[in-house]
Amino acid sequence: MRDIQIAPSILSADFARLGEEVRAVIEAGADLIHFDVMDNHYVPNLTIGPLVCAALKPHVDVPIDVHLMVRPVDALVPAFADAGAAIISFHPEASDHVDRTINLIHERGCKAGLVLNPATPLSCLDHVLDELDLVLIMSVNPGFGGQPFIPEALHKLSLARARIDAVAARSGRAIRLEVDGGVKVDNIGAAARAGADTFVAGSAIFGSGDYAKTIAALRAAASGAGRTAALRSGASA
Ligand code: DX5
Ligand code: ZN
Repeated sequence: MRDIQIAPSILSADFARLGEEVRAVIEAGADLIHFDVMDNHYVPNLTIGPLVCAALKPHVDVPIDVHLMVRPVDALVPAFADAGAAIISFHPEASDHVDRTINLIHERGCKAGLVLNPATPLSCLDHVLDELDLVLIMSVNPGFGGQPFIPEALHKLSLARARIDAVAARSGRAIRLEVDGGVKVDNIGAAARAGADTFVAGSAIFGSGDYAKTIAALRAAASGAGRTAALRSGASA
């Protein structure tokens, strides 16, 4: 069974009580804090930047998973590394030099992720997958929380999983496969079966009355799916 990570997206938190909200989801079992950065250019929305990340950092004892929906990308990489990000992911369309941006993230001591929009082909992973620590498959068009899950993302996750497994078989490098957008208790199992191991959930968690109960339900549904897939393929555990 894969090691499942649940990453609440603070986009759906109460921004007037952000520190409290972040502490609450960590207490409730969050493995990562997903931090959505939108610039009103690359995506039609405007959110939070490195100052807010730095302000939250003392309240956070899990990795901060920064999702940059900004163009250009590179100037914000050192800013988020200094602000306490553990993972920095970006969209290939937003960087003029994808390989350079990946290197910059690593030079600043963070893990690097590449984010694929619903219409972005997997071929953008060609030649750079070996350098990445994370592939993030968008299951909505980026820009807003609370949108419905796009089912084609399941197919894409399974194709990305095959590529990631091939890297692991060849080099032993582990690359995480994250899914972001519209993830709920009733579809997280399908995403896990398709190969995702890291699950962003914004409205599903922050829109629920009981964060711990919802995170536990998400984790159980994702883990159960992994077990079923293992049994079906004949694995003994
Ligand atoms: C969308 C963001 C997501 C979003 C997820 O552009 O990248 O992280 O907040 O929110 P839900 O889970 O509500 O779709
Ligand atoms: Zn996101």
